[in-house]
Amino acid sequence: MNLAIFASGTGTNAARIIDYFRGTVNVKVCLIVCNKPGAGVLGVAEKEGVPTLLIEKEQFFRGEAYVDELKGKNIDLIVLAGFLWKIPEALVRAYPGRIVNIHPALLPKYGGKGMYGRHVHEAVIAAGEKESGITIHWVDEHYDHGEPIRQVKVIVEPGDTPETLAKKIHLLEYEHFPKVIEEVLTHLPNHR
Ligand code: GRF
Repeated sequence: MNLAIFASGTGTNAARIIDYFRGTVNVKVCLIVCNKPGAGVLGVAEKEGVPTLLIEKEQFFRGEAYVDELKGKNIDLIVLAGFLWKIPEALVRAYPGRIVNIHPALLPKYGGKGMYGRHVHEAVIAAGEKESGITIHWVDEHYDHGEPIRQVKVIVEPGDTPETLAKKIHLLEYEHFPKVIEEVLTHLPNHR
């Protein structure tokens, strides 16, 4: 099984996923797709020797969404780990039931355009929520919208700040995302 990770940030989740599948015989992270030159995830890819594809807006949204490049690499599953662009219909159609995302909150709350990183945790704390968490879900052509695969909760404590909450949620992501990807892969129909 070949994974492509789409990420535009620091790439700490990407690093954990690469690490988790290192040494497995049948799962390989074979591409990092990124839309941000200079993003930390590109350094992770370089260190790990994973090829990268730097994508450009016009071609992603108005062209063929890089489907040929992904098909050329025999990608079985696309993993979004801190990728902020919406996934165009052309890509959803080319990979039905084969794109997963992780969101740092309990969707459907605190999702959608502009709800990423610090903005999510600020909104959760400002609303006085008692709990937050992570949502791993299938991806469709709407932001943070597809069917959930797994949600894991964490308590928001009275003294929590967006930073402390972000830290707790990142730890939850590192623990669960690679395992959920592994589970998803075992249920994936074996064709491309
Ligand atoms: C994660 O919190 C993830 O939930 C969100 O983007 C963040 C990526 O963080 N979609 P990192 O780049 O993996 O550190």
